[in-house]
Amino acid sequence: MIVRPARADDAGAIARLSAELGYPAAPEDTVSRLTALLADERQLVVVAEDDGNVVGWLQATAGLVLESGFRVEIVGLVVAAAARRRGVGRELVHRAETWAVGVGARVLVVRSNIARTESHRFYPALGFTAAKTQHVYRRILPAASA
Ligand SMILES: CC(C)(COP(=O)(O)OP(=O)(O)OC[C@H]1O[C@@H](n2cnc3c(N)ncnc32)[C@H](O)[C@@H]1OP(=O)(O)O)[C@@H](O)C(=O)NCCC(=O)NCCS
Repeated sequence: MIVRPARADDAGAIARLSAELGYPAAPEDTVSRLTALLADERQLVVVAEDDGNVVGWLQATAGLVLESGFRVEIVGLVVAAAARRRGVGRELVHRAETWAVGVGARVLVVRSNIARTESHRFYPALGFTAAKTQHVYRRILPAASA
């Protein structure tokens, strides 16, 4: 298994893994998002490849937060159900940590749905500590007028 930077042609595999988790996306949306992310130096997108197959992916984003300073947040992480408990997630997070240190962040954060029970075993096993519990509010906005 290797962890490597994502490429535009990983979009299909990334979309399939996201759909496994309940986030279906049209392939063309994943291609255009991935293309934009790969061109942005504040974004990290890496995949885990095993025997030629993408079995996991991670996205992390670096940004300056007024209250807390410069930090990196893991905003997406999925390992294929069939590839779990083999260290793939650990390797992906390790890559995010290395990148975060390299870009000068002192904190790596991740928010994870309380329903994802495995992730609440996973992150503590990797040395993360639970910082707070919060609700996520969302409002759908109208499209910008031309
Ligand atoms: C959470 C997730 C990414 C973990 O990936 P993974 O490749 O299976 O994790 P690893 O094999 O690297 O596990 C590292 C350690 O975490 C802990 N761990 C991981 N999954 C666990 C589980 N289901 N139960 C208990 N401990 C677990 C273990 O300590 C494990 O080490 P060990 O196998 O030597 O005991 C994966 O289960 C997943 O994709 N889940 C669905 C999506 C999700 O929850 N994403 C995170 C939201 S941000």
